[in-house]
Amino acid sequence: MIADKRIPECSPLEDESLTEYYSRMAKRHMRFPIKRVLSRIKALGVEQGFALDVGTGPGIFPLGIARALPQMEFLAIDLSPAMIQTAQANARETGLEDRVHFQIGSAYALPLPDKSVDLVLCIHTMHHLEDPLAFMNEAARVLKQGGKYVIVDLRRDAPKLQAILFNLLWRIFIREARARDGLWNSLKAALTLEECKRLLRSSALSRWRLYPQAIEMWIESC
Ligand SMILES: C[S@@+](CC[C@H](N)C(=O)[O-])C[C@H]1O[C@@H](n2cnc3c(N)ncnc32)[C@H](O)[C@@H]1O
Repeated sequence: MIADKRIPECSPLEDESLTEYYSRMAKRHMRFPIKRVLSRIKALGVEQGFALDVGTGPGIFPLGIARALPQMEFLAIDLSPAMIQTAQANARETGLEDRVHFQIGSAYALPLPDKSVDLVLCIHTMHHLEDPLAFMNEAARVLKQGGKYVIVDLRRDAPKLQAILFNLLWRIFIREARARDGLWNSLKAALTLEECKRLLRSSALSRWRLYPQAIEMWIESC
């Protein structure tokens, strides 16, 4: 266990130089993580339709997935205006701005009607949420019947040795001093598997599967 009690990281990233830095790092290092998410989306049988990405940051995941799945359209939201600005620039850079739309929005009030979404994604954002249950219920509200979801986050009960190893790698790759403690703080902010399971049970999300992966947990519809 990294920390006994959760210490959520509730403030969105507002600093423009940090969001630019985060975007550069994500472009450089996210190719493999995007492939992993993409393979799960394909395994769930989603290759077309309308998807929502919650807490999109610089938008690297929806852009990478939209490029691989040309029949998918995305709305991607983030609480941080600076992140949305960076994500929009990334969309223009990749020529995907017609299919991947970015807008400021909250995980607690998803800007979409009930039962309108084929796929909900939420990657490494849940540890920012003081009330993850409210987000889960919102995700359930906007999903069409039979709609799918892939939610990935860190877990506070990750094996300590693995967490220390990943943190060491993070500190080697991340040259920006203000971001050096980022992974460890995010681990401390994350749910444990058991906490997440309890929330899922009391949420409106149905047919979920929760499983650990190194220092992460993955939640998928099944
Ligand atoms: C660690 S970043 C993950 C970004 C992206 N999903 C990725 O994996 O590259 C978490 C993002 O969640 C956003 N965020 C935090 N609280 C949020 C909320 N209540 N609603 C929407 N986005 C939020 C932050 O601004 C930040 O951009």
